[in-house]
Amino acid sequence: MQDKKNTVIIGAQWGDEGKGKIVDVLAEKFPHVVRFHGGHNAGHTLWVNGKKTVLHLVPSGILHKKAKCYIGSGVVVDLSALIEEMQSIKKAKVDIEGRFFLSSNAPLILPIHPVLDKAGENAKENKIGTTGRGIGPAYEDFVSRRGLRVHHLYEKCFEERLDALLAYHSQGTHGKEIKELDRAELIKSIKKMAKQLKPFVADVPALLAKAIEKNEAILFEGAQGTMLDVSYGTYPFVTSSQCVASHAATGSGVGAKHLHNVVAVTKAYCTRVGGGPFPTELDNDIGESLRQIGHEFGATTGRKRRCGWIDLPALRRAIALNGVDSLVLTKVDVLDTFKEIMVCTHYENSKGEKFTLSPFSLEELEGLKPVYKKFKGWKSNSADVKNWDDLPAKLQDYVIFLEKQLKTPISIVSTGQERESFVQR
Ligand code: IMP
Repeated sequence: MQDKKNTVIIGAQWGDEGKGKIVDVLAEKFPHVVRFHGGHNAGHTLWVNGKKTVLHLVPSGILHKKAKCYIGSGVVVDLSALIEEMQSIKKAKVDIEGRFFLSSNAPLILPIHPVLDKAGENAKENKIGTTGRGIGPAYEDFVSRRGLRVHHLYEKCFEERLDALLAYHSQGTHGKEIKELDRAELIKSIKKMAKQLKPFVADVPALLAKAIEKNEAILFEGAQGTMLDVSYGTYPFVTSSQCVASHAATGSGVGAKHLHNVVAVTKAYCTRVGGGPFPTELDNDIGESLRQIGHEFGATTGRKRRCGWIDLPALRRAIALNGVDSLVLTKVDVLDTFKEIMVCTHYENSKGEKFTLSPFSLEELEGLKPVYKKFKGWKSNSADVKNWDDLPAKLQDYVIFLEKQLKTPISIVSTGQERESFVQR
């Protein structure tokens, strides 16, 4: 992998692919790490020397003391979640002063947004299964130009904008819940948090432009995954932001020409949280084994993740949409005990026609059945292996088969949760 260049890390599936660990591994070589979309719906888990750190907003490069970490303007920021996370990082004796920056034009998630998110979900029959963090409603307010951004916290217009927002939502379907919020308390607590965050607020695009001028490499950290992208995922069962690599430019404020290398992370199998289609889902004992062995429970909500086999039509779509240079295959060790491992190579419709790329229309997807190639399990240990030659031969075959099918090199095979547990090819 050419890690000297600016690199974008994205998820190729429905999130939870293990991007956090990969960002943490690569961050050693990148002086700058930027989150460019999503919010605290993300849960990036890092394990260093047996110690677990879960990050939701702060970039996963923060544990590398030399890395400067940025929250770009594509991220929706919940002030209390951010402060709580910063405090827990400081408690872990990681200094963030002078190396953590919050974009002044990032949109805010205010206490009304989780209320609207949960009320909206409760009212739906066919639920998306959102994280309930207010992500969607905050992006809606941002796009409608009603919302508040970080810089508004420090401007004369703050209360006026907040009042207009409260008035707008008080008249809406969930107005009752909004009216119950105590305005004075709300303003007091927001102002207090704004004061705490002030030293970290910065012109992130200008800082990144300086880094580019000095030829210092930037790592862009994606959240969620391509199949959850609002434009290209399994709409409407998606998140509210663009998860694809090209959004690293708009979501952090750098020119598109500064994105040089795209790395997509995929599990050796597949998971999804919340509602929506999942063609290779295993609603049986095998799925349950994947869940238990892979600890497939949400890092943000603790929800059970749905589990299934790897889905190549979805991955081919992700590779094309993101312009992927190389793949990282994670959690191969979870498959160590399985007798048989299946790979969905393509889908078929009722007429037996073959589809190698997952379609955008859910109606079309519903009419397709996954077609599998069966692999004999390697039934031996790959956990924490660090050299390609030490991986079980059948696992090597599995990796090479995926590479050929996807026409994309797999540059890293991750073999465990610890920072050092991976094979670089
Ligand atoms: P929202 O992002 O909270 O609006 O949720 C929309 C959909 O995206 C739901 O299906 C969530 O489960 C899913 N989602 C959001 N963030 C993540 C994540 O970090 N990992 C996996 N799924 C996610």
